[in-house]
Amino acid sequence: MNSIPVRSVVLSVGAYLPDNIVTNEELSKKVDTTNEWIVQRTGIYERRIAKKNEYTSDLAFNAAKEALKNANLQAKDIDLIILATTTPDFTFPSTAALVQQKLGIHHGAAFDIQAVCSGFVFALATADSYIKNNMAKRVLVIGAETISRIIDWSDRTTCVLFGDGAGAMILEAQKSEEEIGVLCSSLRSDGDEWNKLYVDGGVSRTGTVGHVKMQGREVFKHAVGMISDVVIDVLEQGGYKTEELDWFVPHQANRRIIEAAGKKLNIPLKKTVITVDRHANTSAASVPLALSEAVGDGRIKKGELVMIEAMGGGFTWGASLIRW
Ligand code: ACO
Repeated sequence: MNSIPVRSVVLSVGAYLPDNIVTNEELSKKVDTTNEWIVQRTGIYERRIAKKNEYTSDLAFNAAKEALKNANLQAKDIDLIILATTTPDFTFPSTAALVQQKLGIHHGAAFDIQAVCSGFVFALATADSYIKNNMAKRVLVIGAETISRIIDWSDRTTCVLFGDGAGAMILEAQKSEEEIGVLCSSLRSDGDEWNKLYVDGGVSRTGTVGHVKMQGREVFKHAVGMISDVVIDVLEQGGYKTEELDWFVPHQANRRIIEAAGKKLNIPLKKTVITVDRHANTSAASVPLALSEAVGDGRIKKGELVMIEAMGGGFTWGASLIRW
């Protein structure tokens, strides 16, 4: 007897951005840079920076509340929280556990995932596996960062690139013959490249928090090929062609990387969601923030085919194909 497969169906998305906007002009008063340099090299005009007393768990909680409201659900309906971050509130407990507490949930499980900018894609693929293995019914998947806390604000080569924010998605286990929800994912890492993009502090090595260190050109050089590889892998797994994609929602690190990957994959810009101009690189939050914007303004609609991808420190990289 054929049983109906369990799918990880997207119920909703939500987002939160801190109020404080920092423009390129403001940054150019602090470090030797210009609006023209930043826009030309990255496509970034401004970014949001969290207040001192605003923590990653607060950003995540606000994004989660919006996702719950958009799904018409209550916090008690969630039985798993997976939170991707590289800027946790504490060394432990996990930021996911703090969000669970803020939401007043006392059942199920909550844990963090660390895959830097690829974190949300890794968290989504993990949530999908939990659902398909009947280990969770409704999963809150969050990407949240206060990346401003690990930026050296006197280093012009990194401080212009990043911003803070959070995005959330709720997945529900539904039995369906139809190919809906998360269709397939591809996750990759290569630790050989760790020192091209890393933070020079940590619990075990230095006992400090540290700052982002990056060989920008090297990261750029690797990014386009890695992104294209996983996107093609996911399309092949699902048996889809690039032309069938309705939307491409890439990690928002740099407009030039997004455009180069789109060109290589033959995905037109009009199908590409871009938020890097206003959000900068929010690491694990960038993909759910972009999804939330494109769902909120009516671009991404039910039934459409959406490709998400990300690449970041580790190196880590991954992609997921979702039938919305
Ligand atoms: N303003 C003005 N000049 C600058 C700035 C700045 N903010 N930053 C660097 N420069 C200078 C450099 O000092 C260098 O000067 P020099 O020629 O006198 O030595 C010159 O500009 C060129 O520097 P490059 O680093 O070669 O510039 P490039 O064109 O590669 O652009 C950038 C730099 C934007 C960082 C680019 O390499 C890039 O986007 N790389 C990918 C970075 C990225 O996406 N990182 C995030 C990955 S995701 C994650 O996991 C966090």
